[in-house]
Order: sequence, then structure tokens, then C-alpha cells
Amino acid sequence: MCKKPYCVYGTGVLCILVLVAGIVMILLQVFPNILYSQVKEVTVLKNGSQTFDIWQNPPAPVYMQYYFFNLTNPAEVLDGDKPAVVEIGPYTYREYRPMTDVEFLENGTKVAALNPKTYVFERNMSIGSEDDLIRTVNIPAATVMQKYKDSIFGSVISTIMTGEKTGLFEVHRVGDLLWGYEDRLLKALKAFEPSLDDHFGLFYMMNATDDGAYTFYSGSENYQDFTRVAEWKGQRSLNWWSTDECNMINGTIGASFHAVITKQETLYLFSSDLCRSLYARFEKEVWVKNVPGYRFVPPSEVFANVTVNPANAGFCVPAGNCLSSGLLNVSVCKQDAPIILSPPHFYQTDEKFVQDIFGMRPNKENHETRIDINPLTGYVIQAAKRMQVNVFLEKISKFRQTGDIRTLVFPVMYLNESVVIDDDSAEKLQAAVTQGNIVINIPFIIIGLGILLGVVFMVLISRKRIPESTPDERKPLLTS
Ligand SMILES: *[C@@H]1O[C@H](CO)[C@@H](O)[C@H](O)[C@H]1NC(C)=O
Ligand SMILES: *[C@@H]1O[C@H](CO)[C@@H](O)[C@H](O)[C@H]1NC(C)=O
Ligand SMILES: *[C@@H]1O[C@H](CO)[C@@H](O)[C@H](O)[C@H]1NC(C)=O
Ligand SMILES: *[C@@H]1O[C@H](CO)[C@@H](O)[C@H](O)[C@H]1NC(C)=O
Ligand SMILES: *[C@@H]1O[C@H](CO)[C@@H](O)[C@H](O)[C@H]1NC(C)=O
Ligand SMILES: *[C@@H]1O[C@H](CO)[C@@H](O)[C@H](O)[C@H]1NC(C)=O
Ligand SMILES: *[C@@H]1O[C@H](CO)[C@@H](O)[C@H](O)[C@H]1NC(C)=O
Ligand SMILES: *[C@@H]1O[C@H](CO)[C@@H](O)[C@H](O)[C@H]1NC(C)=O
Repeated sequence: MCKKPYCVYGTGVLCILVLVAGIVMILLQVFPNILYSQVKEVTVLKNGSQTFDIWQNPPAPVYMQYYFFNLTNPAEVLDGDKPAVVEIGPYTYREYRPMTDVEFLENGTKVAALNPKTYVFERNMSIGSEDDLIRTVNIPAATVMQKYKDSIFGSVISTIMTGEKTGLFEVHRVGDLLWGYEDRLLKALKAFEPSLDDHFGLFYMMNATDDGAYTFYSGSENYQDFTRVAEWKGQRSLNWWSTDECNMINGTIGASFHAVITKQETLYLFSSDLCRSLYARFEKEVWVKNVPGYRFVPPSEVFANVTVNPANAGFCVPAGNCLSSGLLNVSVCKQDAPIILSPPHFYQTDEKFVQDIFGMRPNKENHETRIDINPLTGYVIQAAKRMQVNVFLEKISKFRQTGDIRTLVFPVMYLNESVVIDDDSAEKLQAAVTQGNIVINIPFIIIGLGILLGVVFMVLISRKRIPESTPDERKPLLTS
């Protein structure tokens, strides 16, 4: 049916045109660009849009899980032995974190908001109750002793502590350790310093409160800035180095995620508790609820000591006073409490800290911080922020409460704040990813078509040649 030369050569020309078109499309990234522009259109915070609603009220449930370390040998520790601890938990809380007081600024290029977090205990996801008792460091006492160790008031304070029967280790309810209790020692000291708050809790006054005013980029100017923190508490440069304004553990994971993530990307995770941002790099590809993702984890150099990574000098607080790998002194952030943050079970820190405590079993799976992001949309499909609160302890001769204790970084508890994409959003993402894959593959389909045409062309040409090569038809050509 296609024997005429114009038909045969037409097929050949068409084949070449289609192949060239396909290759040009790949080279010019026509379809990825169409796709990215579609993604760009939705990665902007605009009043009334679906993206805005999801940002304001994230549908995926966030859980905060606390694990405590129960001290089993307090008397021996005061005699200079190695502490032995047992991990207890999790105590799980559902975290509600809507954006409130939302206000668009500067023609909608920025959005101001508060982000209060409310924690509701989830008994079914917990092992034990908020009434469980935990024996751990008496943090108010440790703080007071550190503060007055070189002061002339030291002996007075020591007398008060003896009167109040303050021990270096005490037993408290989980609920109290987290959300606050009235402390005897602080109450006694309040008589001398009326401005003192006599309550202590690791998350005291943090339920249903916000951690300061945020300004986010809406993404309207540059979609890659979508929901990135522009300012926090009026502070502009939230970088690695700023240590002046900070806080212990108010913060939660908040990724400045970009649409269309590449494996080369460095993600900056904003966390107000670290007083700075933390970065993460691509580790591997993962699947969460049938949605493909890239896993980003903080590289080990994030935690390296200054010898290994000089950029971490910003972690030396006060300047020049550098702790070993993986530890962060947040004392200045927490009213001089000798608090040191680390990854749980001292994962990725100097082996010394693991060896100092019986009961530390660091492992990657459970103790690393990670964030899984769908590369096409930049949507966070799974994340876990893990952090341990430790107290710096040492023998202080002025205070006999410290006995003969070794110098220790003592683990009190760690937390895992995690989120997994909800089923509804996962389904929508699956659809978007499938559609995206089809669109991305259009040039390859076109090239396939070109190759098919090429095959047809070959067949037609060879069919045409068979009769040409018969002797009867060739003779006249040769003899003429
Ligand atoms: C969004 O629009 C609604 C209706 O126009 C308005 O009531 C609301 O205040 C707007 N929200 C913001 C954050 O501007
Ligand atoms: C907002 O947009 C208007 C008109 O496009 C422009 O004149 C004005 O300078 C912009 N204001 C800001 C704060 O960007
Ligand atoms: C936090 O506050 C909410 C209501 O404001 C309350 O329902 C919840 O029990 C509180 N959580 C804790 C841990 O106290
Ligand atoms: C922690 O240790 C204390 C003291 O040994 C004990 O009373 C308490 O029951 C332990 N807590 C848990 C949750 O096992
Ligand atoms: C964190 O909470 C404490 C109250 O416990 C508050 O004083 C502090 O300002 C908060 N930190 C930040 C960064 O907002
Ligand atoms: C820093 O870490 C390296 C490797 O772990 C170690 O050899 C070195 O002694 C550490 N330096 C300090 C000051 O802790
Ligand atoms: C932590 O920092 C405080 C001051 O911010 C300092 O006094 C203290 O010695 C540091 N702790 C350690 C263990 O280096
Ligand atoms: C959070 O991490 C802990 C270990 O750090 C793990 O046991 C727990 O299953 C994690 N929770 C979630 C919800 O992934």
C-alpha cells in the first residue's frame, strides 16, 4: 500500500523529523519545564488555595514521643561509679500545630504567622502513663550548683540545699518532668530572688504556646523559597553562626523544602531549639505509602568536632570552649542550666560518651534525624527529628550533694518528633507522580515512534529493492 517512492522516502523523512523532535525535546527539557512550571504554580502560599490550607492546617498527624532514662544505681554513681540507665517509653503525644494570626506581607511575597503547638497524650501509642516515676538528675539543683560553684554564696546555697534534702538525683512523674512541677529548692531560693520562677519542666509552659513570630517566604517571587523561614522573632540571619538568641527544645522540625528536589541539594532544616539551622544531604531513595522519596540526613560532619570540621566553631559556646563531636552546649539558651544536646544514645558522637554510661545502644535506624521528600513536588512524605537532652555533671567540692561523681554528660531523655504523610495526600501525590512520569516520558515515546518509523522505512526500502535487483530489470540498465 506504500510502494510509491514519495511514500517510502516520506516515511524516512518523517522518521528523521520525529527522532530530531524527540531529541530536541530532551535537550531543551521541554516537558520537565512544563511540569516544573505546573509545580511552581501550586508551590506558593495564596489565600484560599489548597496549598495554603494544607500549610495552615497540616493534615498529617505529628507525634512527639519521649523516652526517659531511669537511673538504677544512684548511690554508686555518687561514689564515682559508671551510671547504669534503663530506657523507658515511649510517652507519645499528638502534636497539633496550626498556623495562626496569618498575615500576608509585602504584596504577598511573605507571610507572617505564629505556630503554637498543643500536645495531647496518646495512651494507646504509649508504654506507661504520665504518672510513671523516673529517677534522673535533679536539673534545678544541678543548675544552681553550676551557677554558684565559684560564688561566695556557694556555702549558703549548700546549707539551704541540705535543709531542703535536695539530692543530685530525684524521682519525679513523667508528666511533671515534661510539663513542670514546683521545685522545693527553687521555691526556697525564691525568698532571696523574688523574680525566680519556682517551677521546672523540660517543656514547662510550652503546651499551647507559640515559639515566637515567624515570617515565611510565600514562594511568589521564587518558588524555591516556598515556606522558607525568612525571619524568626525579628531575627533575619538564621544561620549556622547566630547563637545570641536561642532556646532549648521549643523547636520542631520545619524544612525549607523546595519543589523539585535533586540529589545534589543541601536541605536546610530550621529548628529554633538549635538556635540555628541544620543541614541535611541526600542519602538514598525510599518509598513511603507508594510515593517515591529522597531521604536526606545530616551528614556526619554536621556533628564533627572542630578539628575535623572547622565550620562547627559556631557550636563552641562560649567561643573557644568546644565540646567533642556531636554535642551542643545550649546552656546560654536555658537560663544557664548545664544542658547539652546530642543525638539519642550519643549516636554519631565520640565513642567516649557511649562508654561512659551503661545502657547506651546507638543505632542509625532509630537514632538519626531524617527527612524524606518527594523529589517532584518537594512534599515532605516522612520525617523524624531525634534529639537527646543531657546534663553536664561534675564533682563540685563546695556541694557535698555531688559526692565523688565522675565528670559526665548524663542522658536524661530523648525525643522523636515524627510525621508520615496521610493516606489522602499520599493518593494525590501518587497520581501527580504517575502523571509526571508520563509527561516526562513523552519525548522518549516520540523517539520510540521515530524508531518504529525507521523500521517501517527499512522494510519498505528492502521490499522496493527486491524487484529492482531481479536480472530482468537490471539488464537494460547495464546494456544501455
Ligand atoms: C483570606 O481571605 C478571606 C476572605 O476574603 C479573609 O477573610 C481572610 O482574612 C484572608 N486571610 C488572610 C490571611 O489574609
Ligand atoms: C507592591 O506592588 C505595587 C504594584 O505592583 C508596587 O508599586 C509596590 O512597590 C509593591 N510593594 C512592595 C512592598 O513590594
Ligand atoms: C495541652 O493543652 C491542651 C488544651 O489547651 C490540653 O487539652 C492538653 O491536655 C494539654 N497537654 C498537656 C500535656 O498538658
Ligand atoms: C524507675 O526507677 C524507679 C526507682 O528504681 C522506680 O521506682 C520506677 O518504677 C522506675 N520507673 C519505671 C517506669 O520503671
Ligand atoms: C520557649 O519557651 C520559653 C518558655 O518555656 C519561652 O520563655 C521562650 O521565649 C521560648 N523560646 C522561644 C524561642 O520562643
Ligand atoms: C576530633 O575527632 C577526631 C576523630 O574522631 C579525633 O581524632 C580528635 O581527637 C577529636 N578532637 C577533639 C579536640 O576532640
Ligand atoms: C557551656 O556553656 C556555658 C556558658 O554558656 C559554660 O559556662 C559552660 O562551661 C559550658 N559547658 C561545658 C561543659 O563546656
Ligand atoms: C521514633 O523513634 C523511636 C526511636 O528513636 C522509635 O522507636 C519509634 O518507633 C519512632 N516513632 C515513629 C512514630 O516512627
